[in-house]
Amino acid sequence: MSTIMEQLKTDHGNISHLLATLEEQMRVVHDEENADFELMHDIMMYMTHYPDHTHHPMEDLVFKKLKHYDDSAEDVVTRLEREHAGIAEKGQRFREMLRHVVDGALVERDVLENTGREYIAFLRSHMEIEDSDAFPRAEKALSPADWEDVASSIKARTDPIFGPVIADEFRSLYDYIQRES
Ligand SMILES: [Fe+2]
Ligand SMILES: [Fe+2]
Repeated sequence: MSTIMEQLKTDHGNISHLLATLEEQMRVVHDEENADFELMHDIMMYMTHYPDHTHHPMEDLVFKKLKHYDDSAEDVVTRLEREHAGIAEKGQRFREMLRHVVDGALVERDVLENTGREYIAFLRSHMEIEDSDAFPRAEKALSPADWEDVASSIKARTDPIFGPVIADEFRSLYDYIQRES
């Protein structure tokens, strides 16, 4: 498997883990218990810093090549590309809402819960389509030179939590993940 595809699948595992943590916090919000808004905000900072900046653009490059080789992938690729914009937009909205809560503003619980649950469901179903359809097609269609081309074209950020160096602003989220796993 290409290094790029390995990275994309590793990212999905990490993202799924964080979505499960977010979902658990949505249950806490729903039950009107003390939710950890700082934790949720840190997760959304990560989602908008790494997946939106590097994971999805990397996929866009892979999908563009896939479309070139496989006409029948046109529909799924168009959908996934459109969803990348939706994920970024929904993620930013949710992150800003959490920022307000952390800063002490009042946000209605059901609005926060609905926004969070919608984000989780949207991103999960998006990744499922990639895992079951777009990724297997790309693995079949792209040549080693194509994968190298993707690797050299992407202006990637290193993952600030699951990568080799933990960024200071993500240290508390990293510690939380270590404690939970
Ligand atoms: Fe994606
Ligand atoms: Fe993805």
